Amino acid sequence: MIDRVSHEDIPEICALYKRVWEVPHPGIPAEFLKAAAPTPLEFTSRMEGVTYFVARDGKRLLGVIGCSFSEGNCHLVDLAVDVEARRKGVATSLVLTAVDWARKSHANAVWADALGRFPEARALFHHLGFASAGVLHRHRWNEDVHFYETFP
Ligand SMILES: CC(C)(COP(=O)(O)OP(=O)(O)OC[C@H]1O[C@@H](n2cnc3c(N)ncnc32)[C@H](O)[C@@H]1OP(=O)(O)O)[C@@H](O)C(=O)NCCC(=O)NCCS
Repeated sequence: MIDRVSHEDIPEICALYKRVWEVPHPGIPAEFLKAAAPTPLEFTSRMEGVTYFVARDGKRLLGVIGCSFSEGNCHLVDLAVDVEARRKGVATSLVLTAVDWARKSHANAVWADALGRFPEARALFHHLGFASAGVLHRHRWNEDVHFYETFP
């Protein structure tokens, strides 16, 4: 089940990000890991500008995604799925919900980005029919960033 995030979800969301990103990630820049696992206070302030959705199985939170709107487009941000819930279509449901939300919000384009070193995220966007929109090299904390786009 996919829902809009409410303020009550914040502690569980931050715990999920922590589980996903606080496992050892050799070579991933510390700045990336810090931004990827916000504190409840940091996440609360992000919610000001971003529409978040969560996936649940009963009461258990399985995954999160955000839609950040700017200049007529929707940027998909902060996507993460709990390790035990992967390869079951959770991210697929979250991304499709986000694209649908972008369409209802009259966004002209939806885009996403993933570090080159995250092949699973890149495979996901290919799988969902996003087009590759290029690579910026050493763009974020010296890491290559791959861009994807689709039109809702
Ligand atoms: C990337 C991520 C969100 C995928 O979540 P998920 O719920 O497992 O994805 P889905 O089950 O919806 O996968 C859909 C398709 O994406 C592709 N895919 C997803 N994970 C993959 C992997 N580890 N290896 C190869 N392909 C993968 C496959 O084509 C998959 O379809 P299939 O299972 O029928 O083969 C998850 O691995 C994750 O949270 N990773 C860490 C955080 C991260 O990288 N976030 C994205 C930052 S941009």
